[in-house]
Amino acid sequence: MKAFYQDFTLGILGGGQLGRMLIQSCANFDLSTAVLEPAAGAPCAELASRFEQGSITDFDSVYRYSHSVHRLTIEIENVNVAALQRLEAEGLPVFPQPRVIEIIQDKRIQKRWYRDHGIPTADFVLVEDREAIRGHVDFLPAFNKLGKGGYDGGGVQRLDSLADIDKAFDAPGLLEKAVDFEREISVIAARNAHGEIAVFPAVECVFHTKRNLVDYLLAPSGAAAAVLQEAERIARDVIGKLEMVGVLAVEMFVERDGTVLVNEIAPRPHNSGHQTINANYTSQYEQHLRAILGLPLGATTMKSPSAMVNLLGAEGHSGPVCYEGLDTLLALPGASLFLYGKKETRPHRKMGHVTILDADISRLLEKVELVKNAVTVKAHSAGNNA
Ligand SMILES: Nc1ncnc2c1ncn2[C@@H]1O[C@H](COP(=O)(O)OP(=O)(O)OP(=O)(O)O)[C@@H](O)[C@H]1O
Ligand SMILES: [Mg+2]
Repeated sequence: MKAFYQDFTLGILGGGQLGRMLIQSCANFDLSTAVLEPAAGAPCAELASRFEQGSITDFDSVYRYSHSVHRLTIEIENVNVAALQRLEAEGLPVFPQPRVIEIIQDKRIQKRWYRDHGIPTADFVLVEDREAIRGHVDFLPAFNKLGKGGYDGGGVQRLDSLADIDKAFDAPGLLEKAVDFEREISVIAARNAHGEIAVFPAVECVFHTKRNLVDYLLAPSGAAAAVLQEAERIARDVIGKLEMVGVLAVEMFVERDGTVLVNEIAPRPHNSGHQTINANYTSQYEQHLRAILGLPLGATTMKSPSAMVNLLGAEGHSGPVCYEGLDTLLALPGASLFLYGKKETRPHRKMGHVTILDADISRLLEKVELVKNAVTVKAHSAGNNA
């Protein structure tokens, strides 16, 4: 284990906020980091030991860059898997494993994997294009999802009837039965190379109905104990059957009768685990490092109930960012601020988040509302209402 600390560099593909918080954990473990990311000035730019601007989807770019690191991980799954496979074959440890990233990158392969491995998930049919969807009108209402490239709700839309089919994605994807869920929850699981598995307590994602984005997140979830136990069992089952190394976020639907269905998974730290930095014995970021370095996993125990509010760019504001109302939120007992270092705001862009701890759930929810109303993410020069 000591060898990790001598001239050891962890490579990270992607330089967004998840990478930024991972780097913060790397600093605690005294690890050097090398980040490859297409956007200059990304959240990791000023924190990584080495930051290079370059493509993470191009074979040559990923392959060449990764020769300078001792171990490689990702903070976004949209990466060149062929390059990762080549690097792995040549002996570079890559976690999560390229074969897992490949399954998850394409929602079509992901859904088939659930079906083939006995993981409960909503019924689906694969569709090649818009025309093919016309043949499945009796499958509606359904969610039409792009196989590849969707992110933050961008590759997902609900189709209710024949009239909606004109707006369906005209690309390979799937139709998934609309689930009339009671709530959406997420369990972050971790597995190290020794096969040790740990899961964080399930959290509840309260979604913004219009934007398909997390509005706020609550830990613990208010679902019945049996439901939470089942969700944690499923998360263990998924990461165990994938034999994945690293952290894996398992997003799930809870139906009104308590049935738990897997919606999708992400093989990396996740938006629904930010609160673990403040609210759990071990954060999801440190857990990811422990897993990919072959170290013992940390305790996932919750220290306090918590909520996480994303700070999103305000509607009508694009340009150099300016945060309003931070004083109000920082005056709130138990509120912690995380800004991602993005220089430019855009409508709905994730610019930061606030974690709030409070032992009393009703007071916690009041603080969520206070934070949502207190902070606005604007562009600071006038005339920027693009
Ligand atoms: N089959 C379904 N039934 C009901 N609601 C669904 C279904 N599929 C997706 N949704 C809704 O749409 C949201 C986004 O879907 P999904 O998680 O598949 O997309 P995504 O773009 O990959 O998400 P993310 O925002 O996590 O990047 C879900 O969280 C859920 O609220
Ligand atoms: Mg999702």
